[in-house]
Amino acid sequence: MIFRTHHCAALRDKDIGNRVTLAGWVGSRRDHGGVIFVDLRDREGVTQVVFRPEEQAAVAEAAHGLRDEDVIQVSGKVAKRLEGTENAKLSTGAIEVVADELKILNKADVLPFPLDEQIANEDLRLAHRYLDLRRPGMAQNLRLRHRVIKTVRDVLDADGFWEVETPILSKSTPEGARDFLVPSRLNPGAFYALPQAPQQYKQLLMAAGVEKYFQIARCFRDEDLRADRQPEFTQADIEMSFVTAEDIFALIEKMFVAVFREAWGVEIKTPFPRLTYREAMDRFGSDKPDTRWTQEIVDVGGIFAGTEFKVFRGALDNGGVVRALNAKGLAKITTGQIEELTEMAKQYGAKGLAFIKCENGEWKSPIVKFFTDAEKAALKDRLNIEEGDLVLFGADKLDTVCEVLGRVRLRAVELLGIKHDPQRLDFLWVVDFPLLAWSEEEKKWNAVHHPFTRPKAEDVALLDGDKTGEARAEAYDIVLNGVEIGGGSIRIHEADLQSKMFGILGVDDEQQASMFGHLLKAFKFGAPPHGGIALGLDRLVMLLAHADSIRDVIAFPKNNRGVELMTGSPSVVDFKQLRELYIASTKKA
Ligand code: AMO
Ligand code: AMP
Repeated sequence: MIFRTHHCAALRDKDIGNRVTLAGWVGSRRDHGGVIFVDLRDREGVTQVVFRPEEQAAVAEAAHGLRDEDVIQVSGKVAKRLEGTENAKLSTGAIEVVADELKILNKADVLPFPLDEQIANEDLRLAHRYLDLRRPGMAQNLRLRHRVIKTVRDVLDADGFWEVETPILSKSTPEGARDFLVPSRLNPGAFYALPQAPQQYKQLLMAAGVEKYFQIARCFRDEDLRADRQPEFTQADIEMSFVTAEDIFALIEKMFVAVFREAWGVEIKTPFPRLTYREAMDRFGSDKPDTRWTQEIVDVGGIFAGTEFKVFRGALDNGGVVRALNAKGLAKITTGQIEELTEMAKQYGAKGLAFIKCENGEWKSPIVKFFTDAEKAALKDRLNIEEGDLVLFGADKLDTVCEVLGRVRLRAVELLGIKHDPQRLDFLWVVDFPLLAWSEEEKKWNAVHHPFTRPKAEDVALLDGDKTGEARAEAYDIVLNGVEIGGGSIRIHEADLQSKMFGILGVDDEQQASMFGHLLKAFKFGAPPHGGIALGLDRLVMLLAHADSIRDVIAFPKNNRGVELMTGSPSVVDFKQLRELYIASTKKA
């Protein structure tokens, strides 16, 4: 005997009169004066099952005792629903199954939360994730994730890529986060690092002549967690030999066309717009600009070149900038909200947040009294200031002003209550990132992307002078609606340039040999020019699913304290286990 003849979304008019067997969960049970209706649910959908006491007394009696989430098997005839009781919302809404057999496969206790309501307590959902995932929305997310990964694999396979697995027990790669370490029992005192990304391995595969590599790769980073960050996450990791950045852009754009066709049934437009890092920072104050709101940051330093207003004067005289953002329509902001914005600006390094509220034909502002009529006219013209607008100013060092106004810009969209069209897709490439960033704290240069990123050919000479910080990288990010969904670069493939790069980053010869000897050696035996990219799959699926957090598209995520609540990991381990690993724990969890 077969377990079931159909899944719960399959039956239609054409099946009326046929005998079928279904299996699934009791989604709900309604008692209409002895006639029992059950919404039977499986992965695919819902079918209404009717138990009629006048026809099958014993079966209806058994159905009477059914509770939500009991697992059952029912057999019966497909019947047309009574006129007026059809459910247009269900694909099976025209029919029902009149049961003549019922088998209870497993009983369910009372659930910790109902499956058909929004549950605000995420920890409760995560602790019973197997129930949470039964909810149709979550099941759809899993299905979507599968479709996206399948599409990525198909596109890459068709293009000649090989999927190659690389070690999980590996050696620390400096991607910028803290490593998760795994003690080695066989090598007392030594540790593996879980990969932050398969970066060095994929480059070594290029040295191995693989030419086109990809991997749906799990990555591990011990960082502070946010809605779009998990300690373990998944990349579509890609590396190619004998390519320029253009080849990688074209491949990724082709992949996104296929992914959006599969996931949303839409045709997206390529090529995606490109912005240099400098432009992105100047216009949007972010290296992952959300361009769905079109208001941009504007340089008003020229207008105030002769200003007497001490805040602007001071910034300009110190080699800084004065920039402004017209938050169109935000004059309705409350004093409390202005204070909140100012606090936020200060958190990102600003000394204050000057503003003009344009209300009832007046400019209300603590600072316009310092402006000349000519400055006011120029400002009005340059920023298109109209009734109802709120203009916000940043006067400081360039980087501070960009960062602050960039954050203020994102918050302004929230305060305006703007709801973007859910189908809107603003893709863009951010290119020409700086190669290096100076760390005041460590008093040293750090790689902006990672140490294997190639400087732009025309900027290599800058590495030797006092303009090191101006060197740009052959690096790019892909951004969708203000979320960084991928990043990559063309790599250094020459041992001497790589070694020089490590030197600039403060890695001396001895450390280079011990940490990166394998890579430097590989580059000496004929490594081809190569480059690649990694897409953050969780973030991509999150956007495709219109989810608020990547946790909603990961089957068993960790909460924001890094805890997987269902199994309770991480957990304390046995003293004996630690002893075998030569580990002494000084703290109790
Ligand atoms: P990068 O560090 O930019 O590059 O990572 C690539 C993409 O991975 C996603 N991502 C994350 N997603 C969820 N949780 C996290 N904690 C997290 N961290 C990163 C982002 C990001 O754009 N090896 C290089 C790639 C390369 O050079 O080819 C790398 O890992 O969407
Ligand atoms: P103050 O004279 O310091 O009280 O500042 C006058 C106005 O300018 C206040 O609204 C401050 O929030 C604002 N302000 C002060 N410093 C800056 C700055 N660096 N950038 C932008 N606005 C500032």
